Amino acid sequence: MSKKIFFSGVQPSGKPHIGNYFGAMKQFVDLQNEYDGYAFIVDYHALHSLRNPKEMSENIKNVLLDYLAIGLDPEKVTLAKQSDVSEHTELCWIFDTVITMPFLMRAHAYKDAEAKNKEIDVGTFNYPVLMAADILLYGTDIVPVGADQKQHVEIARDIAEKFNNTYGQTFKLPEHMIMKEVAVVPGTDGRKMSKSYNNTIPLFAEYEEIKKCVMGIVTDSSEGIPKNVYAIHKLVRDEKELEKIYTEKTGKYKELKELLIEDLEKFIAPLRENRKEFAKDIPKALAILKAGGEKAKKVAEAKMEEVREKIGVNIYEK
Ligand code: TYM
Repeated sequence: MSKKIFFSGVQPSGKPHIGNYFGAMKQFVDLQNEYDGYAFIVDYHALHSLRNPKEMSENIKNVLLDYLAIGLDPEKVTLAKQSDVSEHTELCWIFDTVITMPFLMRAHAYKDAEAKNKEIDVGTFNYPVLMAADILLYGTDIVPVGADQKQHVEIARDIAEKFNNTYGQTFKLPEHMIMKEVAVVPGTDGRKMSKSYNNTIPLFAEYEEIKKCVMGIVTDSSEGIPKNVYAIHKLVRDEKELEKIYTEKTGKYKELKELLIEDLEKFIAPLRENRKEFAKDIPKALAILKAGGEKAKKVAEAKMEEVREKIGVNIYEK
């Protein structure tokens, strides 16, 4: 029996943080033995916020090293970048013609941008459609993501249904996979950890950086147990142990932060070392990415043939 399929992606928009890891990337590793996986670097998605070519190239390589360093095995999971598989953007266009503007205007990301009165580029508006193409091209069963992507996976399902209703059964409806405890990993200020809030702890931070981030965690002197420290701490230490420690050290914020620094260091140090090893041979890492793109492209091409057939543009004799 063939394995089920997972697909997910990370934007090369900066350094991944522990929110990306616990919310999504860790699940890619956990699923890789049971599922046929696709872990993409979604560089075309990142274009809406990153328009510096040098930084783009660097970030792509960085996410690749991050994927390898967390333990993704390219024999089990296809590591690829979106721009190597042009079928993603092709399918995006076809989807654009079956869905409506009011449907996309309900997307949170668009509404947030609009509320901030930003000049919204069409790519930002269309972001969920490209994401639907990413997911649907591969017959995806599950999409491991953080809670902020839930609506996007729902939109992908709606688009698949809309296409299937118009042209006949073509796309499988994917499910999101969101782990309850880490659906929204909080940052150092208690809000969702996010590059745009400047409240992150980078996944491959060096010791001094970890220290700086943890010392910067916002605490309120009226609370016995510093909730922002605890919320991050429980990612890297068993909660039963933590409850005991935090009760014993009520009010001792500095000590608790120092303990968190040590626990984060224990967790991050081996990942950091792994990453340094992979970084020694960039050509080898790039060859993995290129081969992954070629493998993904074969699957995507076959699906696009079916799509072209369904919409009636395949008119040549075979
Ligand atoms: P991106 O690059 O913003 O984030 C990558 C993954 O990290 C998760 N995440 C979090 N999870 C829990 N707590 C947090 N604080 C936190 N911050 C980020 C995100 O939910 C995401 O799973 N649109 C996607 C990229 C994408 C994609 C796809 C994902 C493009 N195509 C197809 C899945 C399938 C994004 O912006 O991820």
